[in-house]
Amino acid sequence: MCPPVPRPGIMEIEPYVGGESAVPGIDRVIKLASNEGALGPSPKAVAAYQALAGDLHRYPDGGCTELRAGLARAYGLDAGRIVCGAGSDELLGLLAKAYAGPGDEVICSEHGFLMYPLATLAAGATPVVAAERNLAADVDEILAKVTDKTRIVFIANPNNPTGTHLPPNAMKRLRDNLPGTVLLVIDAAYAEFITGRDDYSPGVELVESTDNTVMTRSFSKIFALGSVRLGWAFCPENVADVLNRVRNPFNVSAPAQVAGLAALEDADFLERSRRHNTTWRAWTTERLRERGLRVTDSLGNFVLVRFPDEPERTAAKADAFLKAKGIIVRRMAGYGLPESLRVSIGTEDEMTAFIDTLKEFLDQ
Ligand SMILES: Cc1ncc(COP(=O)(O)O)c(C=O)c1O
Repeated sequence: MCPPVPRPGIMEIEPYVGGESAVPGIDRVIKLASNEGALGPSPKAVAAYQALAGDLHRYPDGGCTELRAGLARAYGLDAGRIVCGAGSDELLGLLAKAYAGPGDEVICSEHGFLMYPLATLAAGATPVVAAERNLAADVDEILAKVTDKTRIVFIANPNNPTGTHLPPNAMKRLRDNLPGTVLLVIDAAYAEFITGRDDYSPGVELVESTDNTVMTRSFSKIFALGSVRLGWAFCPENVADVLNRVRNPFNVSAPAQVAGLAALEDADFLERSRRHNTTWRAWTTERLRERGLRVTDSLGNFVLVRFPDEPERTAAKADAFLKAKGIIVRRMAGYGLPESLRVSIGTEDEMTAFIDTLKEFLDQ
């Protein structure tokens, strides 16, 4: 008797490993490994979540009606073209499954977010990697990978883990030169951290002016609600229709819906989080560069730090040193960047402790 065998490709998937959150023998760790909100969730989101506790026997609103209306108000979008998901991860996976399958190709950039090749393999399709230039996605390299089998291009803007971004004219050039049958998915999970820059756009205008571009967003980053799993996609009508057919009827829990709406409407918290991130990302970047480490110009709530090719100062040794002191950052070997660590922006105390500990490591 043979056990059931999954579809071809499934066993090639390396299960995603999230950031660690514990170090054996250390009670209080500093977790800078998963790009979570530095300030914790908005108190208004916590109150909305708690207020729902007595209604846990009820199914949620399968259409996320109030949340989509809130998103439409906040971002000036058509609520009918917003689809919510259990994290943007769910929506990325549903897009891959709905638009690609065995024999199809999906283009991802070299150091792009790891969910894209995972979602592609889970759909039975083949990930195709486009080289980057200076740790940033390269439009010409992506276009060079297009074949008649290409179904989707996934691009995070800004990208995790590099923090780099494509400006609006480059994204438009990518869209203009992709075949119309190719879905362009712009993953703007970190968009809310960025204000006042005319060289960045999350891509709304491309979604509005085409029928083959989708923008995905997350409540796990600036809104600091990673635990409830909440994300959304702004889509052309045809893509929203497809997502609404393939998603589970109750894919977003009621606590996620109410907490998300409350967080969205807490403008003070949002502004405080944005300012905190801008200040401490700049501070951390400067301190690291002062020590001769290479740091990309990140637009997200994290920095990517490259360690030197000296045997005593590798990223692996820095990671082990930090971990022994209870500071958890993220190794980047899985992203093809074994010489780098990604460090999320935490509180003032956490960033000071991280820099002090790293100095200790570099000065040994
Ligand atoms: C670029 C990018 N997209 C999507 C996600 C997933 O976010 P969510 O928690 O909404 O599934 C992440 C999380 O780290 C990310 O970095």
